[in-house]
Amino acid sequence: GDSVGFVGWRGMVGSVLMKRMLEENDFNDISPVFFTTSNVGGEAPTFDGTLEPSTLKDAYDLNELRQHKIIVTAQGGDYTKEVHPKLRESGWEGLWIDAASALRMNDDAIIVLDPINRDVIDRGLESGVKDFIGGNCTVSCLLMGLGGLFKQGLVEWTTSMTYQAASGGGARHMREVLGQFRDLGNEVSAELNDPAAAILEIDRKVLAKQRSGELDTAQFGVPLSGSLIPWIDSDLGNGQSREEWKSDAETNKILGLEGDNRVIMDGLCVRIAAMRSHSQALTMKLTEDLPVAEIERIIAEDNQWAQVVPNTKDATMLGLTPVAASGSLNIPVGRIRKLAMGPQYISAFTVGDQLLWGAAEPVRRMLKIAVG
Ligand code: HSE
Repeated sequence: GDSVGFVGWRGMVGSVLMKRMLEENDFNDISPVFFTTSNVGGEAPTFDGTLEPSTLKDAYDLNELRQHKIIVTAQGGDYTKEVHPKLRESGWEGLWIDAASALRMNDDAIIVLDPINRDVIDRGLESGVKDFIGGNCTVSCLLMGLGGLFKQGLVEWTTSMTYQAASGGGARHMREVLGQFRDLGNEVSAELNDPAAAILEIDRKVLAKQRSGELDTAQFGVPLSGSLIPWIDSDLGNGQSREEWKSDAETNKILGLEGDNRVIMDGLCVRIAAMRSHSQALTMKLTEDLPVAEIERIIAEDNQWAQVVPNTKDATMLGLTPVAASGSLNIPVGRIRKLAMGPQYISAFTVGDQLLWGAAEPVRRMLKIAVG
């Protein structure tokens, strides 16, 4: 099979990618070589004997990287920015498949989400595009859920108000959230064990702890557990966060929409203390007044992972939460109803595992497409 170099396979996104590749027997079709930024010459993974033993190569060694027809990286944006330009300057013409955002908006890069934009990917491969980049997690999860409406040109605009999990920041962010919950719980454990303890006193102690400066906030900067942070990624200086900017830019790029055909996307991105699934509350203005049943049919028929959740309390509580969606490739879409603003306005709520469709899965599937 094609020789494929893997960089960043040990991190959180990389580990999810490896797990998915093993589940799908993807290693059968390729000759993998594993790179490292910290342990050159160490033992490469065999995944319990699935692969032959080998040694780790230096992820900064251009001559080693150049040996491969395809490089897959989940090492992160700093690595991409450092290595990718040098590799291209050296004349390497292989395919670079990347989970990081660094190259995403380049004119000569394609954002990969093949159940939604396989046509864009195929045209790119035919015309010699070499850089294939995974999308932002909220954008990918949104389009996997509601792609049917977008593909059929039924969306005039969408606001996405997000509820993004700690995993979007990284592994240390997830630990920080849990550590804060632990410390807050410990602060009031005696009172919690006493049903007669006054709730306002418990609340006062929790708030005092959150404001004390004693919680570890090294990753998020302020306490997240028992709170939220309505800002994600950098400040663009125009009132918008970079995460909010991505929603319009990437959605239209993924769908290949330009000029008058673009859909308008905007909204506020909020970090909450969920673990690994991002949620989004959507307001959509459709181009037509469609019955709800028709909207549900279009969503459910678009791809096998979009799952319509009936708009009832029971179904929502059971099926439309980060707890329900985490670890699954399914993207539940619920709360679909007409809003009071008018017959073309609908609400929807969607949840998706930020590490699967949000990061590793589009990259894994692009590799499958690339090796044919
Ligand atoms: N930027 C996203 C977040 C994760 O912080 O949740 C990656 O797309």
